[in-house]
Amino acid sequence: MNKRTLGREGLQVSALGLGCMGMSEFYGQGDEKESIAVIHRALDLGMNFLDTADMYGSGANEELVGRAIRDRRDEVVLATKFGIRRDGATRTVENNPEYIRAACDASLRRLGVDHIDLYYMHRRNPGVPVEESVGAMAELVRQGKVRHLGLSEVSADTLRKADAVHPIAALQSEYSLFTRGLEAEILPAARELGVGLVAYSPISRGLLSATLPSADELPADDFRRHLPRNTGENAEHNRALAAGVKRIADAAGVTAAQLSLAWLLAQGADIVPIPGTKRLKYLEENAAAADLTLTPEQLGALAAAVPADAVRGTRYPSMGEIEL
Ligand SMILES: NC(=O)c1ccc[n+]([C@@H]2O[C@H](COP(=O)([O-])OP(=O)(O)OC[C@H]3O[C@@H](n4cnc5c(N)ncnc54)[C@H](OP(=O)(O)O)[C@@H]3O)[C@@H](O)[C@H]2O)c1
Repeated sequence: MNKRTLGREGLQVSALGLGCMGMSEFYGQGDEKESIAVIHRALDLGMNFLDTADMYGSGANEELVGRAIRDRRDEVVLATKFGIRRDGATRTVENNPEYIRAACDASLRRLGVDHIDLYYMHRRNPGVPVEESVGAMAELVRQGKVRHLGLSEVSADTLRKADAVHPIAALQSEYSLFTRGLEAEILPAARELGVGLVAYSPISRGLLSATLPSADELPADDFRRHLPRNTGENAEHNRALAAGVKRIADAAGVTAAQLSLAWLLAQGADIVPIPGTKRLKYLEENAAAADLTLTPEQLGALAAAVPADAVRGTRYPSMGEIEL
């Protein structure tokens, strides 16, 4: 698979990464054996950029990734995140230096590695100056525990402040045909600074594949059952938009998921989507999207089918809540 470069320190990663979150939580039951096979197949295909976080499955996802890469650590660019603390059903955002140091050691232990290639602050707590948090993260780089730093879901202003303390290799935020909010200010700021953009939920959590079952057909523990984009009239509207993407994909001889990934790759060489899956079938389908180059006509058709603000419903049930 082609490589892309994240940030001005030159972190090289595969053009598409693999999101591992759904292997442990949020999108129905996973199967550990298949999840590990997915990670191995991704590495075989040169998709070497793996994404996890300490909170996914309350640590179980990092342990799973750690088991999968035990004999293949050198092939992997390993990204994980700290900052969302779970205490039963309660979640808090922790950004203070002492917490960051302990979280990093715990992630290294669960992953079974001696360093993390890209360490993100998962969410920001505005009560802690970002300079303080990034200062503590930079100390982890000096200690050799971490190679590069990232932030997730922060504003342009926070990104600028953070990057002034230590180069930020990547901003990880939600970006897809259906989620375009960062195009106005955040993406331009990242570009001005030379910060790469890691696009999470690039298939809009399955919606853009045009194959996602309706909310009430999803498993009881699937968190998408309650997402505003998947329920009521919003769902009808958004599924019609996804059907429009599928029509363009059909004409191109690809799937709607592949077209959605190729659209993101076409937005700039600094963008690295990280589609998530726990199935070999989807992994192979998604990986093949790295070889697609869209024509101006196809890009035009997508722009007409999905205007930037076309999707209905917020990304999370309440934007004030800490959700994943
Ligand atoms: N920084 C953050 O706050 C944040 C938030 C969310 C996610 N993330 C990261 O980003 C990664 C990707 O995002 P995501 O998993 O939320 O969303 P996504 O990649 O847009 O969609 C994943 C969902 O789509 C399905 N899917 C994947 N490929 C498909 C295909 N070719 N055809 C049909 N369905 C397909 C998957 O099914 P299966 O589950 O059945 O395989 C899964 O349910 C996560 O794994 C996680 O590492 C980060």
